[in-house]
Amino acid sequence: MKLVDSIQRMATLSKMVRKEGKTIGFVPTMGYLHDGHMSLVKAAKKHTDFVVMSIFVNPIQFGPSEDFEKYPRDLKRDEELARAAGVDVIFYPSAKDMYPPGYSTYINVERLTDRLCGASRSGHFRGVTTVVAKLFNIVRPDVAYFGQKDAQQAIVIKKMVQDLNMDVEIKVMPIVRESDGLAMSSRNVYLSEDERKSALSIYEALRKAEGMVASGEIDSKKIIRAIKDVISQKASIKIDYVSIVDTKELEDLPEIKSEALIAVAAYVGKTRLIDNVIVRLSPKILPDSEKKPGVRR
Ligand code: PAJ
Repeated sequence: MKLVDSIQRMATLSKMVRKEGKTIGFVPTMGYLHDGHMSLVKAAKKHTDFVVMSIFVNPIQFGPSEDFEKYPRDLKRDEELARAAGVDVIFYPSAKDMYPPGYSTYINVERLTDRLCGASRSGHFRGVTTVVAKLFNIVRPDVAYFGQKDAQQAIVIKKMVQDLNMDVEIKVMPIVRESDGLAMSSRNVYLSEDERKSALSIYEALRKAEGMVASGEIDSKKIIRAIKDVISQKASIKIDYVSIVDTKELEDLPEIKSEALIAVAAYVGKTRLIDNVIVRLSPKILPDSEKKPGVRR
């Protein structure tokens, strides 16, 4: 495994790999790796010939009062995990090379980024799309892997790739959870023992919502109420949002029709956690308006 910190060297290396006729799989991360990140590597190893992982804590996607400074970093540990997983290159550029003095170009996906996390993290997605576009230009991957854990991020990136005709395929992989259900996140290390226990109620609430949908509930208001009831039993949690939206435009759905994203963001103590589930109505409980005429179910 190679460790590359120079943008130029990374670009040259990618060019060579492509010349050999190999496909490049790319896993962008901010490091402090866990099994969620490694599931993306596994998928990349399976479907592409050469796997590049970037590790870059991207300053421009953090707000001024957010955790950029204290975001967990451990390159040595990440290196070992990446090597064991068969990553071919770790690309870890410096912030001053990525954003030299006078840097002035940003990418902004409109509308989709006003909602959910975008509503409370102003400028966050502009920072994400800008860095991901830069990384794509440097690494030139055939396929890039993202996690469903950051559902909105994956949708925003897909939109950027589509709108800007970027020549890369985006694959979105399922959420990897701890054995008790908590979604893995580099930020989980911030949690105290008590907060860690409380944090579990986010997933419990989402499970409850899934159960409600499975038994026929389609009224988003009722489902959101139930989710909030479960989470607010924990005094240390402050809900940022609970939303039920469609999986393309992220518009609020008053009623669940066919497919919906149920997404939660909440502060557990000072730590902001996100989680989500996608629910799909089984055909027999589709509202009449969604049933195609002439199709018997
Ligand atoms: P980071 O939070 O390090 O996550 C890197 C990738 O791992 C993202 O695609 C994220 O969705 C995925 N991931 C994180 N936790 C996961 C889990 N429990 N299960 C499955 N996938 C998971 O997301 C970022 O970094 C940054 O915004 C980045 C895209 C690198 C741009 O800076």
